Amino acid sequence: MIYFDNSATSYPKPSQVTDAVIYFMTKIGANPGRAGHSQSVKAGEIVFEARKKVAVFFGLKSPMNVIFTSNATEALNTAVKGLLIKGDHVITSAMEHNSVMRPLKRLEEDGIITFSVLEGDDRGVLSVEEVIKAIKPATKVLVINHMSNVTGAVQPVREIGELCRSKGVLTILDCAQSAGIIPLDMCADYIDIVCFTGHKGLYGPTGTGGMVIRDGFDFNRIRPLKEGGTGSLSDKTVQPAFMPDKFESGTLNAAGIAGLSKGIDFLNSLPEGLKSVQLHKQTLQKYFIEKAKKHVKGFVTQSETEGYGVVSFTIEGLSVSEVTMKLSDLYGIMSRQGLHCAPLAHRRIGTFPEGTVRFGFSVFNTRDEIDSAVKALKEIAGGN
Ligand SMILES: Cc1ncc(COP(=O)(O)O)c(C=O)c1O
Repeated sequence: MIYFDNSATSYPKPSQVTDAVIYFMTKIGANPGRAGHSQSVKAGEIVFEARKKVAVFFGLKSPMNVIFTSNATEALNTAVKGLLIKGDHVITSAMEHNSVMRPLKRLEEDGIITFSVLEGDDRGVLSVEEVIKAIKPATKVLVINHMSNVTGAVQPVREIGELCRSKGVLTILDCAQSAGIIPLDMCADYIDIVCFTGHKGLYGPTGTGGMVIRDGFDFNRIRPLKEGGTGSLSDKTVQPAFMPDKFESGTLNAAGIAGLSKGIDFLNSLPEGLKSVQLHKQTLQKYFIEKAKKHVKGFVTQSETEGYGVVSFTIEGLSVSEVTMKLSDLYGIMSRQGLHCAPLAHRRIGTFPEGTVRFGFSVFNTRDEIDSAVKALKEIAGGN
């Protein structure tokens, strides 16, 4: 089996990740922060270690500003719905995933906000000038992804962040695709809130992710998405107002978080950290695109040759479902077809409503696997 669906979720996970999940399930087992017994304390320590690692990973001083969620979708819903109030205006881009678009649409339909969708260049990449033009007196938030899950295009986050900070506009960055690939320093990059998922480039288990709030940001401005048990202030019927309990109601996915912690260790242990990841993915991407262009009849890519391992493509005359189904059924190659939960992105790049085939490479993929994929695609496309 060749697994190229890493932009949906990465597979395989590093052995230290699966070992940590099994260790937690078999040797710890308890609910973190819910009791005074030693197993609960150990579970709490494992979660706190993970919090510290996530904080360092995003250039944050305070681990308490890391809120664990079950995925990027929950983090984005918390940030968007928690921050925005009646009359606010939001800026976003056409490249957004539905985990940004749908919460915005919900608030718009409920008559709470208005929002502007910026088109960017022909790859959906925004410019500072375009953002400046879109800022209105009521603009409170800009929410964009760091890296597109459709084309892999990367937004100029620091320039846009600096502009927004200077204009008093808050920034929410969707790092679902970029975390574990493109380094981010929330302070230097002028980002107020990062929403990430743990199961893609961070190599953690599914069901992990988080919302990270920059040091010094007044978190009282954000309402929690849910209220409930936190293991703290149990004599009170109101939600604790401190971090991270304000946003972490209900039992955490502690076994998953134990794995996520080791996923971050895995990335940090690579010879040059994220640079090694980037280099590997860029090499594979360039190799795949150049080889496929040469050998696969009708191959068209919507991604750059240089990129970080998210490659969309189509094959003229074939439906994307036919391509992915044949790759899976005849060649054991796993990939994804369709709109990848980002319909406006496909309108922007001209692949709506059919969508694209997407290969997402991980650090575990090899050139040999790409050779096999190109051979398979050549046969599916009829050769030339
Ligand atoms: C850009 C982007 N944002 C958000 C998400 C949502 O991530 P999750 O499914 O982990 O909530 C994804 C997942 O594919 C994504 O690619």
